[in-house]
Amino acid sequence: MAAGDKEILKGVNLTIPDNEVHSLFGPNGSGKSVLISAIMGYPEYEVTSGEILFKGKNINKLSIDERVRLGLGISEQRPPTIKGVKLRRLIEILAPEKMREKTLEKELQQKFDMEKFLDRDINDGLSGGEIKKSELFLLLMKKPDFLILDEPDSGVDPEHLKNIGEMINEILQNKDSGKNGLVVTHSAAILDYIHTDKAHVMLDGKIHCSGNPVVMMEQIRKNGYKYCITCQNRNGRDCI
Ligand SMILES: Nc1ncnc2c1ncn2[C@@H]1O[C@H](COP(=O)(O)OP(=O)(O)OP(=O)(O)O)[C@@H](O)[C@H]1O
Ligand SMILES: [Mg+2]
Repeated sequence: MAAGDKEILKGVNLTIPDNEVHSLFGPNGSGKSVLISAIMGYPEYEVTSGEILFKGKNINKLSIDERVRLGLGISEQRPPTIKGVKLRRLIEILAPEKMREKTLEKELQQKFDMEKFLDRDINDGLSGGEIKKSELFLLLMKKPDFLILDEPDSGVDPEHLKNIGEMINEILQNKDSGKNGLVVTHSAAILDYIHTDKAHVMLDGKIHCSGNPVVMMEQIRKNGYKYCITCQNRNGRDCI
């Protein structure tokens, strides 16, 4: 997986079984967001070898919109501002059926206090925490089959974190596909509100170890990421 001549991911082997949500930890610059960009098909990165499989299908050659139509949904670490496009308009395009179900839409807007953002340009002038919320609200309307969240908890104050956790849980309640997703986090603060089945640690473009999310985060806090390097020697078995 490369950006121009630079190899960033160096052989990532990651499987997320049906009906599971996994967390991804790792130091700054280790390749977490690039991995997500590869899964979504962002064109600045080239998959030089390997397969990305979703719903049993190789999606390497699909465009971003085809991947989204197939059921992938992402909240980016740094979502862009889109001037001239109102949040309401994007929801109308992404989830027209939700806009028809007026009561459901109203209920969710009120529950998550989103009404004031609907007629503003996407992320324009929103605070860091408000941007995260706005992204999640779009995903809540779209209800992807596989939810990818890149640091949904960064820049969110402790009170709003609970609110963000509730939104994520609501997005994950998908009666058709079950709960499926990948959540990148540094602080693991969000893991107090959402359950993830397993965690992986990425170091220098590779998944180095895997295990119980809460226990692994405790180890990382106490011993740093060097703890994961020793784990790598365990023949691919979970560390914890
Ligand atoms: N287009 C690019 N060209 C060159 N290098 C890139 C490009 N995109 C990403 N990188 C580099 O790839 C590495 C991994 O970046 P990435 O954004 O995936 O890190 P991350 O694990 O998400 O870190 P953080 O926790 O800080 O968000 C970084 O060193 C970054 O500078
Ligand atoms: Mg990142």
